[in-house]
Amino acid sequence: MKKIAFFDTKPYDRPKFELYGEQAGIIYKFYETKLNEDTAHLAKGCDGVCAFVNDSVNEAVIDILEGLGIKLLAMRCAGYNNVDVKYARKRLCIVHVPAYSPYAVAEHAMAMLLTSIRRIHKAYIRTRDFNFSLVGMTGFDLHGKTVGIVGMGRIGRVFADICRGFGMKILAYDKFPAEDGDIPYVSLDRIFSESDIISFHCPLTSDTYHMLNAETIEKLKKGVVIINTSRGALIDADALLDGIKSRKIGATCLDVYEEESDLFFEDFSGHILEDDTLARLISMPNVIVTSHQAFLTEEALANIAEITTDNIVEFFTTGSCKNELSIN
Ligand code: NAI
Repeated sequence: MKKIAFFDTKPYDRPKFELYGEQAGIIYKFYETKLNEDTAHLAKGCDGVCAFVNDSVNEAVIDILEGLGIKLLAMRCAGYNNVDVKYARKRLCIVHVPAYSPYAVAEHAMAMLLTSIRRIHKAYIRTRDFNFSLVGMTGFDLHGKTVGIVGMGRIGRVFADICRGFGMKILAYDKFPAEDGDIPYVSLDRIFSESDIISFHCPLTSDTYHMLNAETIEKLKKGVVIINTSRGALIDADALLDGIKSRKIGATCLDVYEEESDLFFEDFSGHILEDDTLARLISMPNVIVTSHQAFLTEEALANIAEITTDNIVEFFTTGSCKNELSIN
């Protein structure tokens, strides 16, 4: 039986991983702590490691894991900007879950958009206090509005389909446009200057780091709604805050935040938040923040557990895996 050290475990992870692990003859050893230089030694005696979006898989961690004889790092997510894949080459095999439910993320993006522009977050609080006033609750129709989608992969495409259902006009930007003819690709500049709503669905790379910054915010239409369910560092959060304060940006929906790794997934309700930018963003009436929650559906959790377990079995049975990351 292969033993896998499972980092950053949350109560909602365990049932599905226990189920699929038992079926496949894999023992998951669950640790609540995140994976980093201080905790990597907990993988001692295991055959592989399973990590998530806010674990640190840097050179030091890879060295420790290699020293422990770990052969496999199974990421239970799609994105891998927190993994030094280049350094891991020839040291560890790294696999991921390329797709588990693009619907979960795309539907969450639309849920945030509707909540924001129809002020549902405000209405929920008002009516609980028996305040039935509608003053300040005026929204706008999505029908006829232009949505700019940055990154037309699996999630971007589902989001586009949802937006089409609302009668919105789609503009798309992708660095690697697909061949199929029905996607209305335009330049990134046109996305920025023509969209009423912009939703980010591309990976975080050196190309996309801070693609929304002080300079690009200048190009936006006044009142634009920004949605980010991809990775926080696509957006310069301080520039975003300035754009909101200057009224250039009409509303913002963030499921991810550049400095989320020490905060998201944890309960800080009894603490004073050290991050002034995040605290100020959350204080804004036209900003909605969820804590990297877009993936969290029953269907996605089941797919993540099943595909991760299959990846582990495939690697230990054949010595390779179709979902191995291979970045030069
Ligand atoms: P995907 O790989 O199917 O699509 C990404 C698209 O971005 C591709 O079409 C690619 O060509 C494009 N792209 C690459 N570089 C680009 C650039 N420089 N500019 C514009 N487009 C570029 O990935 P998928 O499954 O659609 O996921 C997108 C992102 O969503 C992931 O990278 C991940 O960061 C994020 N994500 C967030 C989750 C959450 O819970 N908030 C859950 C799952 C994914």
